[in-house]
Amino acid sequence: MGESVQQPERYHDNNVIRTRSLLASMLAEGVKKIVFSSTCATYGIPEKMPMTEDLPQHPINPYGQNKLEVERQLIALATTQGFSFAAFRYFNAAGAVADASIGEDHTPETHLIPLAIAAALGRRPPLKVFGNDYPTPDGTCLRDYVHVDDLSRAHLAVFDRLNVPGRQFFYNLGTGTPHSVKEVIASVERVSGKKVPHEFAPRREGDPPALYANADKVKHELGWRVQFASLDSIVETAYRWHLARPQGFATA
Ligand SMILES: NC(=O)c1ccc[n+]([C@@H]2O[C@H](COP(=O)([O-])OP(=O)(O)OC[C@H]3O[C@@H](n4cnc5c(N)ncnc54)[C@H](O)[C@@H]3O)[C@@H](O)[C@H]2O)c1
Repeated sequence: MGESVQQPERYHDNNVIRTRSLLASMLAEGVKKIVFSSTCATYGIPEKMPMTEDLPQHPINPYGQNKLEVERQLIALATTQGFSFAAFRYFNAAGAVADASIGEDHTPETHLIPLAIAAALGRRPPLKVFGNDYPTPDGTCLRDYVHVDDLSRAHLAVFDRLNVPGRQFFYNLGTGTPHSVKEVIASVERVSGKKVPHEFAPRREGDPPALYANADKVKHELGWRVQFASLDSIVETAYRWHLARPQGFATA
């Protein structure tokens, strides 16, 4: 999200223009079904917590705006061309595959769990915690961390529903349990048995104090249940990946 504020045109090009091009190609080939990775960032600063799908969408950064624009492209295609789609609004995707073959490897890395693990392992400087004066129980931001395997299961659960033309599905994908930055640090320390060196820094612009899902809709309609309900269970898989792959996918 932060990067999208620095490079809005690049984000618009990659997320909006290229998705439009992909959808046009799909249409030309008669492929009219898609599952779209949308985001809770389309809501902006939500009016209520936990967040339901019917909340107004007022994104506060170009990344969220791009994703909302794609949701709107999909609605138009569903209405006019019989496209069927599911827009999954992920919360904070986290964790790794159990055998440590697939995990998070970003350049630059901006996600909290990988950064906290790297700090614990001494591979990075102390973790910067942006803001400890938020109106939350421990003063740090609350987010909803959801395991990638659980996200995958939601995709599998929706495929059959897309066989009927013109269907539109919007689902929040999160565990519904908020965790603070300090709780993430404590979890990494429990799982790794190591301290996470960290320091407090000023708040980042546009970081809402709390973002967590009400995922009742996807539970009722698709029967989705998270298998990684605890933060430690998510962090354990991420930790295994980072131990096994010190250079991420570049590790031989
Ligand atoms: N990670 C999260 O917490 C989160 C939350 C909400 C939504 N999402 C969305 O889920 C999706 C995956 O997220 P991620 O965190 O795994 O991202 P990621 O950066 O790890 O992976 C994105 C992948 O898309 C590829 N890619 C980028 N632009 C492309 C293009 N024009 N053509 C083909 N491939 C391209 C990249 O090479 C990369 O492999 C993204 O659309 C992201 O916006 C992620």
